[in-house]
Amino acid sequence: MRTIKALVYDSKSYTQEAFENTEHDGIEFTYVDTKLNKHTVKLAKDYDTIVTFVNDDLGEEVIEKLIDQGKKAVFLRCSGYNNVDLKKAKGKIDFYRVPNYSPYAIGEFTFALLLTSMRRTHKAYNRTREFNFSLEGFVGIDLQGKTIGVIGTGRIGRVVIDIANGFKMNVLAYDPYQKEKNGPIKYVSLNELIKKSDIITLHCPLTKKTEHMIDKKAIDKMKKGVVIINTSRGGLIDSKALLKGIESRKVSSACLDVYEEEADIFYEDRSNHILNDETLRDLISMPNVIVTSHQAFLTKEALNNIAMTTISNIRRYFSGDPDEDNHTL
Ligand code: NAI
Repeated sequence: MRTIKALVYDSKSYTQEAFENTEHDGIEFTYVDTKLNKHTVKLAKDYDTIVTFVNDDLGEEVIEKLIDQGKKAVFLRCSGYNNVDLKKAKGKIDFYRVPNYSPYAIGEFTFALLLTSMRRTHKAYNRTREFNFSLEGFVGIDLQGKTIGVIGTGRIGRVVIDIANGFKMNVLAYDPYQKEKNGPIKYVSLNELIKKSDIITLHCPLTKKTEHMIDKKAIDKMKKGVVIINTSRGGLIDSKALLKGIESRKVSSACLDVYEEEADIFYEDRSNHILNDETLRDLISMPNVIVTSHQAFLTKEALNNIAMTTISNIRRYFSGDPDEDNHTL
């Protein structure tokens, strides 16, 4: 079989390392750090296929151009596919993804953010580096006994629940598609979860239904002092409403690994630029908000699994035996 030529968009050193260290005979990868969009799609012209990531634009215009180039399949090296206009692509381009590369990477990172925020370790680290050994302002809370509301109990949500149980927290869960009766997970309505939780963590996909599920109305119903964590997709939270909730002191802390307008900002060094996004600027400036740059997936294990599954998806597709489990139908 001839060599398959694949262009990898939005590639960073860690992406290339993982792909190159994984056996990929028969596939030649070319790596570019540019994101896919209507301007950069032309780079893909001479390739058999492309490999994309979470912030690549696979909207209507880009899909049209990929169809014009004769592309038949695109390989997402991520699990979420909210960035793909599947309606436009239907019957013309197939998308294969990596549904399960390491729920532990994201579940564990969720608690890294929560513990950092609650125990102020990021501030303590900076203080002691300047020989400031004061503990003023560092009073935290025990997680033991607190109620954590987990929205979405798929692969990642379940890891989060296991970890929360280890901390002896009370877990409430909401998932419209996974209500096990008499199981170990206590499912409640979204309304009850929102009203009763001290900490709310999001682990459901971004869809038309879930977009802005955390809005002003939801925040108004929450407990005073609620902590909100989002390691799923930025669009689940109305960021302006969250900012208002923080300003009014209703929300005591927010941990955000994702942001609804992250696509042109995250994964790049913007330290010499003035950020045009006022909401993100305000959120980052708050002492009780931690923003990370869509980092939860970034472990060695996850990167290796992403590379392995993507390579297998490409091989199987081009040898006429596509992996239907990884097909985004
Ligand atoms: P999954 O498909 O295993 O689980 C998602 C769960 O959400 C399912 O149980 C589903 O029934 C539930 N769900 C669907 N609609 C819902 C709704 N309206 N309300 C509550 N629950 C709903 O997916 P997995 O692997 O657990 O990933 C969850 C999300 O995490 C992904 O959609 C992705 O957006 C995000 N993610 C973020 C990463 C990061 O680096 N920050 C990395 C990987 C995934």
